[in-house]
Amino acid sequence: MAAVPANLLATLTEHQQTQVLRWWDQLNASDRTQLIRQLELVEFPLIRQIWQQASQQASGTADSCSRSEGSRADRAAAPRSVVRRPDSDSARAEWAAAARVGEDLLQRGRVAVVTVAGGQGSRLGFEHPKGMFPIGPVTGRTLFQIFAEQILALRRRHGAALLWMIMTSDATHEETVGFFREHDFFGLGAETVEFFRQGSLPAVDAATGRLLMCGRADLCLSPDGHGGLVNALRRSGMLRRMHDQGIEHIFYHQVDNPTVVMCSAPLLGFHLLRNSELTTVAVRKLGPSERMGVLVAVDEHTEIIEYSELTAEQAARSDASGQWVFWAGNTAIHVFTRCFLERLADSENSLPLHVARKNVAFLDEAGRMVQPADSQPPNAIKFERFIFDALPLAGTTLIVEGDRAREFNPVKNHSGADSPGTAREALSRIGREWLAAAGVAVDPAQPVEISPLTALDPEELSQKIERG
Ligand code: UD1
Repeated sequence: MAAVPANLLATLTEHQQTQVLRWWDQLNASDRTQLIRQLELVEFPLIRQIWQQASQQASGTADSCSRSEGSRADRAAAPRSVVRRPDSDSARAEWAAAARVGEDLLQRGRVAVVTVAGGQGSRLGFEHPKGMFPIGPVTGRTLFQIFAEQILALRRRHGAALLWMIMTSDATHEETVGFFREHDFFGLGAETVEFFRQGSLPAVDAATGRLLMCGRADLCLSPDGHGGLVNALRRSGMLRRMHDQGIEHIFYHQVDNPTVVMCSAPLLGFHLLRNSELTTVAVRKLGPSERMGVLVAVDEHTEIIEYSELTAEQAARSDASGQWVFWAGNTAIHVFTRCFLERLADSENSLPLHVARKNVAFLDEAGRMVQPADSQPPNAIKFERFIFDALPLAGTTLIVEGDRAREFNPVKNHSGADSPGTAREALSRIGREWLAAAGVAVDPAQPVEISPLTALDPEELSQKIERG
């Protein structure tokens, strides 16, 4: 039977992680191969460094250099380079000009879409890939179908191939692909929808930094965060394919927002006109406690600070001019240039690791599965990369203010804010507004759903209704 490769053994010894070989002698050849494959992907020095920092912060022994988060929030100013919503004729003309540039990019086939869909709908009580969640207020269309129909409608409108890339995780991949097959790719053509898996990162014991095992040949692994996109695009060959197809810009969105305006033409246009490498859509937060990340300027860079990283007092801070600093909520709608993503992918691991303290079930020394009690402090540290950490690494960035009511109505919670109820109501409201603009009165209590294949915007709906 295969021995542990010498270089791997040396690494495990150096990082005091040989406990992962506790059951090596009992493993069969394929289990050994699997364990080796998992271990070869672990970034041992980085994991150790981040665990040490997290432990020092938790125990209050971090030195002033590693206690940078508080000071980052304190140094943050309201974001600069923001294209605000148009509120004058000249601004409306500028938006219209940007839209023409964006439409031209679409017609010339320079744009692709990426949907990050590695998350499960567990927070919704839906144990499937979140994209399969039925959200249409009348038909129960799923999130995936709404996006698919937008893409099909955009392809028809612009007469161009619009490649759709969907990032899945180990947890969502098979079911997502099966769902698209079952629905015949919603008419898009199988070869124009690409699924690629994000990577995973190991969980460590919070007290010791040792890798946790979930099986005798299995590390406890979880998805590497939406920041895993950068490496996953390269590994899957998607960066190469986009290069070969002449795709220059990537429209990025999360699977949880059914009212996202895919490939918004003014957004693409401003991105190009301002030579931005990474453009992002911000909307005004409803208040300091809303659970949205915020776009800020820190030391001349645009960055996002996650809501969980701000104290209530910080989140409400105003600057000297009385402006609320943390107003600019992150919608997670971005446009990347392909060249920027290539550069990021070449400098592997350029996105930092974030830690989350979680309860993780693991095998103890005796090989028994231990389920930590929720009442106890979390036993494990998990790691994730966030795509928005690319912002300060971009040469040029731009923020475009979005129309919150129209384009940001995510489905996150089972009930209350950002729930299926609020998202369905938003879809109905948008439908009613479009119908009213076309001269059709609808009972406000009546649920309304307009397929993107019928109309992508109120103008298209009006034209179709006029033509009968
Ligand atoms: C996220 C943003 C927040 C923003 C909000 C807008 C983060 C850390 N925070 O919060 O700043 O204001 O959205 O709605 O992102 N995903 C993967 N793979 C992963 C993890 C996530 O594909 O490993 C995808 C999920 O499928 C989902 C999206 O990323 O589409 C968002 O992830 P989630 O963890 O739910 O972020 P939020 O807390 O909602």
